[in-house]
Amino acid sequence: MKKTAIVTLMMMSVLFAFVLVFNPQRASGSKNPVSAATGTPLPDSVQQFVKKTCMDCHADGGNFLAKGKVNFSEWDKYSPEKQKEKAVSICKELTKHGMPTGKWRKNNPDKVPVQADIDMMCRWALSLQK
Ligand code: HEC
Repeated sequence: MKKTAIVTLMMMSVLFAFVLVFNPQRASGSKNPVSAATGTPLPDSVQQFVKKTCMDCHADGGNFLAKGKVNFSEWDKYSPEKQKEKAVSICKELTKHGMPTGKWRKNNPDKVPVQADIDMMCRWALSLQK
């Protein structure tokens, strides 16, 4: 009986050590566990551009399909990896004039991205890849 108790105790401490090693954040009771996992906010120029050009669809309250791909309302909560990945596809879509969609372009001719916007967005996407 006593032996079982000791074995159980040993197994518990091995398990505990495992948690300590592989989950240092929770184990140390970090006060700021979110900051390590989230990426960088959008710079002002990018924020202004996407607000004008993309957030009719790619934001809370926007198009369901669009939000699923990129949601600029949630951008700050994306992990750095996700931000990198999304920024690249944003640059790609803009470069091939895939976004905004054709219908939106027709309805908002004054807001259609110009080459300078596309360049700015792609420079930003590139800056995230470091
Ligand atoms: C009129 C609504 C609308 C606007 C405006 C719009 N999008 Fe989209 N976007 C969509 C929809 C719907 C999808 C998902 C379906 C698809 O991929 O075609 C999408 C998908 C995407 C994707 C994912 C593509 C893929 O296949 O992985 C990216 C990146 C994207 N949009 C970027 C943008 C950017 C950047 C802007 C602003 C310059 C923008 N979109 C403006 C509707 C929109």
